[in-house]
Amino acid sequence: MHQISNCSRIVQVAVPVVLWEEMQVEIASFTIRSYDEVLALWRQTEGVGLHDDSDSRPAIRSYLARNRGMSFVARAGGVVVGAVLSGHDGRRGYIHHLAVRPDHRRIGIGRRLVESCLEVLSAAGITKVHIFILGGNTAGTAFWNALGWMPRRDIGVMSKRIEPDGAGDGVREGGRGER
Ligand SMILES: CC(C)(COP(=O)(O)OP(=O)(O)OC[C@H]1O[C@@H](n2cnc3c(N)ncnc32)[C@H](O)[C@@H]1OP(=O)(O)O)[C@@H](O)C(=O)NCCC(=O)NCCS
Repeated sequence: MHQISNCSRIVQVAVPVVLWEEMQVEIASFTIRSYDEVLALWRQTEGVGLHDDSDSRPAIRSYLARNRGMSFVARAGGVVVGAVLSGHDGRRGYIHHLAVRPDHRRIGIGRRLVESCLEVLSAAGITKVHIFILGGNTAGTAFWNALGWMPRRDIGVMSKRIEPDGAGDGVREGGRGER
């Protein structure tokens, strides 16, 4: 609440500072043209596990093409300050690599990015969406909890690497954050 002095009278005016900041941030479709900016954001974001194969430009181009219009960037003054991938396999939806630049956190950008994903996934007929979260990411877990997401205690994730040329036995231990 800000006070404005008007000679003898003091008028109290509510100034929605956070809303003003939010209005400066635009959510737009993530196209491959934004790849370099988004990769730079992901690289400097804790809690986002990147991989040479699945996060390369061709891999992200392929992901965006298979899930057209389902991934988003947040821009402030034209600069990427947030990003998220989402898509589905026909049955369930998935959200990956949600990141908001540290100096733009806690003004609702993460929430808006996730809401954008859920809107398009719902429009595609998807009724349940999963996320993967690195063990120990307590802030990330708090964010998802705040948005109403529930941890699953009944299932775990198992992974297997498959070589494109069939070389090797395909068995390799997944490292931390391997997805
Ligand atoms: C998680 C992340 C995307 C949240 O982005 P954000 O724009 O700051 O989130 P929002 O402002 O939309 O927050 C929505 C609500 O989530 C909760 N929340 C967000 N960050 C939180 C934190 N660090 N600790 C506790 N609660 C948090 C709050 O309830 C918040 O509402 P409030 O600010 O009104 O209290 C951002 O912190 C980030 O990029 N973290 C690093 C990457 C990461 O962990 N991504 C998730 C991988 S699964």
